[in-house]
Amino acid sequence: MSNIEQTLSIIKPDAVERNLIDEIKKIFKENNFHIKNSKKIHLTKDEAAEFYKVHQSKPFYSDLCSYLASGPIVVMILEGKNAVMANRKLMGATNPKDAEENTIRKLYGISIDKNSIHGSDSLENAKKEIDFFFKS
Ligand code: CMP
Repeated sequence: MSNIEQTLSIIKPDAVERNLIDEIKKIFKENNFHIKNSKKIHLTKDEAAEFYKVHQSKPFYSDLCSYLASGPIVVMILEGKNAVMANRKLMGATNPKDAEENTIRKLYGISIDKNSIHGSDSLENAKKEIDFFFKS
């Protein structure tokens, strides 16, 4: 049974700064994701705080929002079979130190904050996150 889903991916400021956009997009394509939509934007801290509000009770929330707003990012809709979980597997663990070989965070992540990429953690959140960036 085909289970085509959409998920949201963000190439974070540390990866954009290091010119990794094309390399990361190539990895998605090689892993059978279709990049349905993509745009480069620069969020304000308030917009980043709105996006990450599920983390508002966490001690790292303020730093996390400042970081996401610290430079340009690329937001993408990825489409593919079981896209939400397939993307999480391809990204690797949140902390690059714990990520498996050949995952995006293992290849490019610098630290738990500068971990190069974000991906939705559930189908429900994927819908919300896609709407956040792409609803007209
Ligand atoms: P991301 O998948 O974008 O979702 C929330 C982000 O918070 C996460 O990636 C990390 O970059 C960041 N973060 C910073 N500190 C922590 C922490 N202690 N635990 C989990 N995530 C953290």
